[in-house]
Amino acid sequence: MRHLLPALLLLTFGAPLLAAPTPPQTLVRPGELWEDNNGNHINAHGGGFLRYGGKVWWFGEHKVPGDAGNYAQVGVHCYSSDEDDLVNWKDEGIALRVSDDPKSDIAKGCILERPKVVFNAKTGKFVMWFHLELKGKGYSAARSGVAVADRPEGPYTFLRSGRINPGKWPENLPAEKRTLEGAPKSQGLSGSWFPEGMDKAAFFYRDFKGGQMARDMTIFVDDDGKAYHVYASEENGTLQIAELDDTYTAHTGRYVRVFEGRFMEAPAIFKKGGKYYFIGSGCTGWAPNAARSAVADSIWGPWKELGNPARGENADKTHYSQSTYVLPHPKKPGVFIYCGDRWTPKNAIDGRYIWLPIEWEGEKPVLNWKYSWAPADL
Ligand code: GAL
Repeated sequence: MRHLLPALLLLTFGAPLLAAPTPPQTLVRPGELWEDNNGNHINAHGGGFLRYGGKVWWFGEHKVPGDAGNYAQVGVHCYSSDEDDLVNWKDEGIALRVSDDPKSDIAKGCILERPKVVFNAKTGKFVMWFHLELKGKGYSAARSGVAVADRPEGPYTFLRSGRINPGKWPENLPAEKRTLEGAPKSQGLSGSWFPEGMDKAAFFYRDFKGGQMARDMTIFVDDDGKAYHVYASEENGTLQIAELDDTYTAHTGRYVRVFEGRFMEAPAIFKKGGKYYFIGSGCTGWAPNAARSAVADSIWGPWKELGNPARGENADKTHYSQSTYVLPHPKKPGVFIYCGDRWTPKNAIDGRYIWLPIEWEGEKPVLNWKYSWAPADL
């Protein structure tokens, strides 16, 4: 009996432990459950991507079931895939954890969204930026947070959070407007829009001293190694693009205001043939709307709007998605993948990923719906 027991235990309990690993997948299926190497739906919403060490690293909001998942209960989840794969993702665990200290800026129950990680070759650090809302304050804090790590998967150490560039004038504001004297006054928002007659720069002036608001955001690193923080500012009415310093952990004070009064969010930037492209959304919370796109010769603008990139039946809802990133194909220069979220705020963990290859109509990036497609075929 003594020798039989282990065999018996193995027979009884062994089967689930020996369950076959998830077989390799070849197709991206927008909107379907997307299983990681453990057979769990990938939990990395509002994601960002980093190419490093022969892999692509996916960072996103870890959500839990129900409405509670709209608040950060855990932190930022990380996955990795081989550069030439992009369909099979290995769970690399929690990269940045929220804090159990209620006084921390990233206390459990805060709102921590749209994390983006970049590698800084000069310091050898991985730098994560994210949109942060302090616990219990709704979306009023409108801060950005920054954390660093020695390895792509973390653990990341939280450095600080705050508003952006207090007391700094944007480069594209004419010299005669660089004064608070007689500056346009804010009258708040009427619903989600500017009240009639209010100057669209009013929120910018209101926040000049304390620092500019920053909600939805991305980080873009240019070919010359300079990094830029792109964020929905000024009550989401206007985007700003701000340069980061050479450690990528702070702003230099150089920035511009773009798409003034256009209420754009969910920004994603990519570069093709020397031109900068923007894909974003309108502002309708978790509900999808018609995406926006734009092109520029310089990251600083001027940006020319190119309209809604989505095509086909559900174009007005961007195929029921909102942009979070445009992933340059790591092995195929000039090939780009749109990565978006289909949010499910009633059960946040069930949010789906809408990835579509970017196609082109002349200079316009476009998104055609596909039920499935293979990165290997791009
Ligand atoms: C969306 C935004 C999301 C989240 C949501 C909250 O517009 O893109 O990241 O902030 O609003 O309602």
